[in-house]
Amino acid sequence: MTERLAYFTEENSAEAVIDRMRDAKNPRLRAVMEVVIRKLHEAVKEIEPTREEWLEAIRFLTDVGHKCDDWRQEFVLMSDTWGVSMLVDAINSRRPTGASENTVIGPFHVEGAPEYEMGANICLDGKGEPMVVHGRILDVDGNPVEGAKIDVWQANDEGFYDVQQKGYQPDFNLRGVFRTGEDGGYWFKGVRPKFYPVPDDGPIGALLVELGRHPYRPAHLHYIISADGYDELTTHIFDPDDPYIGSDAVFGVKESLLATFNKVDDLARLDEMGFGAPFFWDVEFDFVLASAAAG
Ligand code: BEZ
Ligand code: FE
Repeated sequence: MTERLAYFTEENSAEAVIDRMRDAKNPRLRAVMEVVIRKLHEAVKEIEPTREEWLEAIRFLTDVGHKCDDWRQEFVLMSDTWGVSMLVDAINSRRPTGASENTVIGPFHVEGAPEYEMGANICLDGKGEPMVVHGRILDVDGNPVEGAKIDVWQANDEGFYDVQQKGYQPDFNLRGVFRTGEDGGYWFKGVRPKFYPVPDDGPIGALLVELGRHPYRPAHLHYIISADGYDELTTHIFDPDDPYIGSDAVFGVKESLLATFNKVDDLARLDEMGFGAPFFWDVEFDFVLASAAAG
């Protein structure tokens, strides 16, 4: 085996490391690591950290690791708050014009949510301002998609998911699975969601404070919509009047995902929906699925 680069110098630092990977068995791993090493050395050369600053960076990453367990993923939170999750999502969900856009899934999706008939109320504890969400699942030509599975979940009126308030909220509160019929239509009842902070009691929360950033996500509803022959859509709809709509901590907001929350206080409609409240929020939103082949 021939040595091509004799010694490591400040100038050739990246090349010296990259050269050592020339016998890597996995060409994709080698290509990825080559870019990572090149960019990392470039950053270090631009920043010129002191030894103490470099140790601080190592301590930070150590704290991020220590904060992770089966439930908490601080590295994902790092990726989310640095905009990397949304960038990876954008690269992997390029779709034809007219198709609904993806956004981050987040950590609060739960498999096995109850499957309901259309029109069911996913709010199991009756708390919050009632809301009706409805619309259609369409293909890019405007045809209804029959048999689409709609998996929806949302935070409550205090900004918490059921899994964050076990014993306080009923299990599977504000979660449900629906399947479209021939008309592609869907509708269900819930409660108007509220903004909430991403988990901010760890090193990522501390970093946000240091950087003068807040940890909040604007109010939203999550959806995963799947149907045979179509690209799976993981997305949200957002409340455009939310105070954090322009500064989502994880950069998940897209203009095409802004819904309208219309306040309805018409007695006949309240009666029709079976709400005993003085008003409800009406939210209409259609989703457009790209065909799987459109990639
Ligand atoms: C969420 O919307 O559930 C979420 C997304 C990213 C980080 C934290 C929460
Ligand atoms: Fe969320």
